[in-house]
Amino acid sequence: MSIFKSHITRMSAYSPPLEGRDPHQHLLLDFNERTLPVSEQVKQALINYINDDRLQVYPSYGDLTGKIANYAGVNEPRVMITNGSDQGIDIIIRAACTEGDEIIIPAPTFAMYYQCANIEKLHIIEPDYTRETGFPVNAVLDAITAKTRLIVLANPNNPTGTQVQREDILTIARAAPDTALLVDECYFEYSRATVADAVITHPNILITRTFSKTWGLPSIRLGYVISHPDNIRTLLNIRGPYDVNQFAVVAVSAALDHPEYTRQYVREVMGVSKPLFEQFLERQAIPFWPSAANFIWAFPGNPEVIEQHLRRHGILVRPKPDLTGRKGLRITLGDIAQTHQLIERIQEGLAIAGAA
Ligand SMILES: Cc1ncc(COP(=O)(O)O)c(C=O)c1O
Repeated sequence: MSIFKSHITRMSAYSPPLEGRDPHQHLLLDFNERTLPVSEQVKQALINYINDDRLQVYPSYGDLTGKIANYAGVNEPRVMITNGSDQGIDIIIRAACTEGDEIIIPAPTFAMYYQCANIEKLHIIEPDYTRETGFPVNAVLDAITAKTRLIVLANPNNPTGTQVQREDILTIARAAPDTALLVDECYFEYSRATVADAVITHPNILITRTFSKTWGLPSIRLGYVISHPDNIRTLLNIRGPYDVNQFAVVAVSAALDHPEYTRQYVREVMGVSKPLFEQFLERQAIPFWPSAANFIWAFPGNPEVIEQHLRRHGILVRPKPDLTGRKGLRITLGDIAQTHQLIERIQEGLAIAGAA
């Protein structure tokens, strides 16, 4: 007999394939990360912090929440900082749901939602995204029952890249006013789509965001929740006082002082690299899902051959099957030079697959 709850012992760990990834050896296009290092100002702020001999002191957050609120264009009481957006997701699910409740999670999507839902023993309902029609708004509306405590949607969604229309989000929020609606805006800086301005008129909306994907700081773990101040006060009852570490505070504060560094990267990825890659896929007649984020889910005829060829040349991408089991590759876009390199290697891979 286990000392733990039986459903927890039966679960498996959420363990993404991180082993062996090395930015000095690989072009990392497998985790939707920023592909270039952070600014010198962020590095210097971290070095200064270490040299200032404060590591023996517990973290203190100073004006960071206010600074993030200012960046997000909302009032400070609407923001809670978290240890990555993963923690925001976890806290929201724990705060909103109890065992046996229903949670609607349109699929396929980000694995963390399932992990948190399974820990709480929730009953998961999964309407399907499709490449042709995108977010299944009607299926989500139809799935809402008196037992639905939470609806999760990522905007844009991972791995599909699908953008969810603002009106669809607000329609769902209004259709289930006593149900929490988690809107994961992890890739907000790429898509620019947000409902942050609607959290007062729609107090069941809880938004999670992160400094992991655009700002290039997944290693220091900083995310934030935007919601009605009453919700933020409740969620703060769960978050620990030191869950966000001081490196995150220092790095993000410095990054926010120099937003142009991030904006420039976003412009290059979304304005040049992504259209370049989409045109390449179209020329090669490789199907892909329309994406509003910094990644594309593509379905070449021989995904294994392409993936292995890329890997042999130091480029890592993420194999992801769709709901029918068809294998695809989720590919992060980087800067222009990296995108040319990617295209060249895929072209070689296609030639190898064609000759086989
Ligand atoms: C949709 C989505 N939400 C959240 C996260 C987690 O981000 P963080 O590093 O802030 O925990 C990811 C990471 O892949 C993601 O794709």
